[in-house]
Amino acid sequence: MSTAKPVEPFDFVVFGGTGDLAVRKLLPALYLREHDGELPAESRIIAASRAGLDVSGYRDKVRGELGRFVPENTLDEATLDRFLARLEYASIDFANGNDWAALTTLLADRTNKTRVFYLACAPKLFGPICAELAANDLVDDDSRVVLEKPIGHDLESARAINDAVGAVFEEAQIFRIDHYLGKESVQNLLVTRFANTFLEPLWNSSWIDHIQITVSESLGVGARGDYYDTSGALRDMLQNHLLQVLCLVAMEPPTYVDKETVRDEKLKVLLALKPMTPKDVKRNTVAGQYVPGLADGVAVPGYKDEADNPDSRTETFAAVKAEVRNWRWAGVPFYLRTGKRMERRLSEIVVQFKPVPHPMFPDSEGAAEPNKLVIQLQPNEGMRLHMTAKQPGPGGVRLRPVSLDLSYTEAFSRPSPDAYERLLMDVVRGNPTLFMRRDEVEAAWAWVEPILLGWKQSEQGPRRYPAGTNGPTDATTLIERDGRTWHEGAPA
Ligand code: BG6
Repeated sequence: MSTAKPVEPFDFVVFGGTGDLAVRKLLPALYLREHDGELPAESRIIAASRAGLDVSGYRDKVRGELGRFVPENTLDEATLDRFLARLEYASIDFANGNDWAALTTLLADRTNKTRVFYLACAPKLFGPICAELAANDLVDDDSRVVLEKPIGHDLESARAINDAVGAVFEEAQIFRIDHYLGKESVQNLLVTRFANTFLEPLWNSSWIDHIQITVSESLGVGARGDYYDTSGALRDMLQNHLLQVLCLVAMEPPTYVDKETVRDEKLKVLLALKPMTPKDVKRNTVAGQYVPGLADGVAVPGYKDEADNPDSRTETFAAVKAEVRNWRWAGVPFYLRTGKRMERRLSEIVVQFKPVPHPMFPDSEGAAEPNKLVIQLQPNEGMRLHMTAKQPGPGGVRLRPVSLDLSYTEAFSRPSPDAYERLLMDVVRGNPTLFMRRDEVEAAWAWVEPILLGWKQSEQGPRRYPAGTNGPTDATTLIERDGRTWHEGAPA
């Protein structure tokens, strides 16, 4: 049964409507909302692109490609026809101010509809496109703009983009997307923490030893080498996705959940992150780059070959030990790591509790392991609480690790929707709770900037790790030096 909530009719304009993101994520997400009956009859999706197609060429392209990105059982002719009929195409060269006629014609006389301008294009175009939208009188109070990450490549460029976009749109109309916030498993973090009583009293430095956040990917950079080589793991993943997850793990409970209260609390966490000195960068961060290795038993090239840049110093792996300097978290390290071409695709949060204060089973076989709560965000959403139990049987006490397991797919008998499905409909509804506010983005850049600088100035460059492994040995040292280890458990 569909649980979709109706939305008001809208026009959804995608700048970069023929690009990779539109084809892989945006159109499939909108199609699945169509399939669920959520798109009102008069709504349209308009691709604004330089690809030189016309509307029938665009519809054919989407018909040909959609099947690769939506589940087979959602593809039926009636839904597909309804969806394709919504698609329009406006040929446009973003930088050329005289070329907006096609889009303005399409949008003329549609003044009572919500208008979404989704900028799925290079960040350097965000400002110029917004200026053109204003100059062509396409922005009204019901318009919203969506900015894909990366928002700039450092604090200064992020501010410049925010200023340029902010000159046309009010902050409440600007939706900075971080698709991790649209993942069901990430949203569930807040519910797990704040809709249950037993965790919250333990969720602090009195009981928690440390926290790990890992987002590992098994794929390499593939065809995205051009973009990735100017970005790297710190900008591409850590500055946004991992820090947002950290915020949700570490934030205080807001009095109630709404669009500003959650973002206010996340911002406080970002501002409480201990700034990195050059010495901290050397000691508490690791950059890595994959070299040829094996992925699922098949030989794969190294990053430099994939990016076609033999001198590249771009990191494909980043690990950082962070500290949240506030009352709740004083002295609890947060170890973050992310990388491409790692052993497997796995995103998880590990909350390791302190050991029992006193070993009271002196004659036992085995020892009480510290409790660990492992929250797996993907691929299999779930939670596992690691405990110690007595192995049944006579002849003394044998302590053994056991776990309480919760799989969301089993509990709710349905797979979670894709993050973009939720987020795109939130944009249409005008609900920015799951989007990054300007101050959050800038605080995150301010925190990572010393790391970017330290790595740039380092003579050493990123450490090598073979494709198919869990990052460079320095990342192991980073945590083992503190008497701890990365959780490399089996997926939940
Ligand atoms: C994107 C990054 O934001 O997130 C990609 O640009 C990365 O490099 C992707 O692969 C990971 O997303 P997910 O949802 O597959 O974990």
